Amino acid sequence: MSPLIIARLTVSDRAHQGVYPDKGGPELERIFSEEWNLPLQWHSLTVPDETATITSALRNWIDQKIPLILTTGGTGPTPRDVTPEATLAILEKQLPGLSEAQRMGSFSIAPTAILSRAVAGIAKKSLIINFPGNPKAISECLPPLIPAIRECLKHLSE
Ligand code: MTE
Repeated sequence: MSPLIIARLTVSDRAHQGVYPDKGGPELERIFSEEWNLPLQWHSLTVPDETATITSALRNWIDQKIPLILTTGGTGPTPRDVTPEATLAILEKQLPGLSEAQRMGSFSIAPTAILSRAVAGIAKKSLIINFPGNPKAISECLPPLIPAIRECLKHLSE
């Protein structure tokens, strides 16, 4: 079986500058790989919290027909958090359930989960999903989405 190609984008000014190591991206990859249980091939990139840079990284992967693009970070309420806006700029269809499930699914264990403004949706043949940057938040938000991601990728490959 050929591997599913996934791209992960870490959005963080400080991880990009090397002020601290990127923890969200590797955690996203670790948890997804554990849950998916089938061969995967990863692309990864770390960018600052700049709308144009985020959008251009996403566009590049969409043009390469990468079926699944996961972002981590930049979904919060601070002035530098622009990942949802950059993602919305290129989405053709939104899949709000994938973001609502992240917020409501972990709200009872992490009341701050609703501060994430993450969005999700489709551009061409790519499914794009925002996640928060905190590794613990990723471990709470990602696993419940796996069945819906599998189903959505099947539909997009038809
Ligand atoms: N989701 C879960 N499951 N657990 C968390 O601890 N933290 C929240 C939220 N989502 C959190 C969570 C917080 S405090 C913020 S500010 C937002 O995600 C945005 O995080 P980001 O800016 O790193 O994307």
